[in-house]
Amino acid sequence: MDRRRFIKLSSLLGGSLTLSTQLTGCASAPKSTEYFPAVEFSHGVASGDPTTSAVILWTRAVPHDNGDSGYVRWQIATSPDFNSPLRDGVAKTTRNNDFTVKIDVQDLPAGRSFYYRFFTSENRSVTGTTSTLATGVIDKLKFAVFSCANYPAGYFNAYEAAAEDSEVDVVLHLGDYIYEYQKGGYATANAEAIGRDFMPGNEGELLTLKDYRLRYATYRQDNGLQLLHQRKPFIAVWDDHEIANDTYMSGAQNHSADEGDFYARRAAAVQAYYEWLPIRPPMGNESPQIYRAFEFGNLVNLFMLDTRLIGRQQQLNMADFKRANGQFDAAAFMRAINDPGRTLLGEDQFNWLSQEVSHSSARWQVLGQQILMGKMHYPAEVLTSQREAIASAIEGLIGLLKKQQAGAPLTAKEQARLSTRLPYNLDAWDGYAAEREKVLKLFSEAGKSLLVIAGDTHNGWVNTLTDNSGETLAMEYATPSVSSPGMEDYVGMDDSQARRLAEALPLLIDDLSYCNLHERGYMTMSFTLSMVTTQWHYVSNITNEDYTVYTRHTERFVD
Ligand SMILES: [Fe+2]
Repeated sequence: MDRRRFIKLSSLLGGSLTLSTQLTGCASAPKSTEYFPAVEFSHGVASGDPTTSAVILWTRAVPHDNGDSGYVRWQIATSPDFNSPLRDGVAKTTRNNDFTVKIDVQDLPAGRSFYYRFFTSENRSVTGTTSTLATGVIDKLKFAVFSCANYPAGYFNAYEAAAEDSEVDVVLHLGDYIYEYQKGGYATANAEAIGRDFMPGNEGELLTLKDYRLRYATYRQDNGLQLLHQRKPFIAVWDDHEIANDTYMSGAQNHSADEGDFYARRAAAVQAYYEWLPIRPPMGNESPQIYRAFEFGNLVNLFMLDTRLIGRQQQLNMADFKRANGQFDAAAFMRAINDPGRTLLGEDQFNWLSQEVSHSSARWQVLGQQILMGKMHYPAEVLTSQREAIASAIEGLIGLLKKQQAGAPLTAKEQARLSTRLPYNLDAWDGYAAEREKVLKLFSEAGKSLLVIAGDTHNGWVNTLTDNSGETLAMEYATPSVSSPGMEDYVGMDDSQARRLAEALPLLIDDLSYCNLHERGYMTMSFTLSMVTTQWHYVSNITNEDYTVYTRHTERFVD
């Protein structure tokens, strides 16, 4: 205690006001006896969840004296010299929140850019930039869209590339911001060799609050991620790996009984997420309800959904549809998938979305969510092939397609090989088909122009979203992973095989028009009143911080 610096708040504040709420820690006004220890701003700054009048500011301030708490000062201004801050105040940093500090700054002007920073008398954070949402007529808007950043798998160069794009207004993060695995687990094999050792490491996968916090602290050391947070406001939702692989309402594929109570693990994961992400939890820090909406003037209504914790029933398993004779019962399987009682969003979230859609008036409606919505129905032969035979099975089927296109007759057996198709990813919307139909109908019946964005698969995709009658109702754009291994890894393909397969898959999957199966990167979406331009950007390298970024694909959507 004797090393603490005892500085009176009143002298630091200079009598200015605070019109803001601290979301974590003590929300009451600081007393004149509170102190400002020297701190380390150990993980940069971040901002997020902008509205037309508010934005979340974030930092982490760790007291040098190893104490349990202290205060820091913050400022937000329209110029980088901070000569006349628009708002300022003090915020508590405490061990109870892992020394993360979050401010919900209120009463800001709409559609403006800001500079912000945190400081004590001895230390100052880097200066961040952020903005509030504009109202009324907006000419243009650009999102950068991310998912699936795996620290031990590689450097987050994709984040840095987006940070360097001065036209990006807002970052959308669709989940898998962290992964829960231990050393030796998924995608960790090269970690040490490429300088991506991580905490906690050898103690098993993430289970406790301490575990999840340490993992965020590791991920946020990445320079690209720190720079992107510093420069752009985030709008984020979690996917499964912020908790455990293939999470659903009451469990997860990667949660077993010997790992303790699932809900205790989930509560720890949710708490750490809210502490470390610049997010405004709609129902407070205790609630797993994360779905929420954002309005970008007359241009875009964005609905950020939760497809994990609120309403998802457990994933189906193909192995459960084997008959006694060992034959796969495809009819029973498809009946289960199309069961109208099967939920992914759940009733409350669907009703909320319905309400939002009924009074949304922007030109474009965007569903920001985790998992692929497109019908990825593969020939059954591909799904039943051993891993090393998948690529050749697909090439064989392409051969049949070409034969058919050339006018040569196919045998009944060859026809069946092409036409017997099944959904393969039962963790995606394909496993919850009735609710997918409901969501697509919700927008089309309201006459709203819908674009769906997705992450989760680690690969880039473009799907036409069709209803059960085959009518096109929307488009889906899916972003590649920042660093998690993609299909090239699951199937065991080199780059040229992956390219050939990416050309072949759209021929075999009806609603698929583009895919990239082996490169890491991100997606941007640029909106004007007349068009949405979506681009896929890929980085040349994730094993160190030297990279080039390539824009490989562009989709233009005109409704
Ligand atoms: Fe992922």
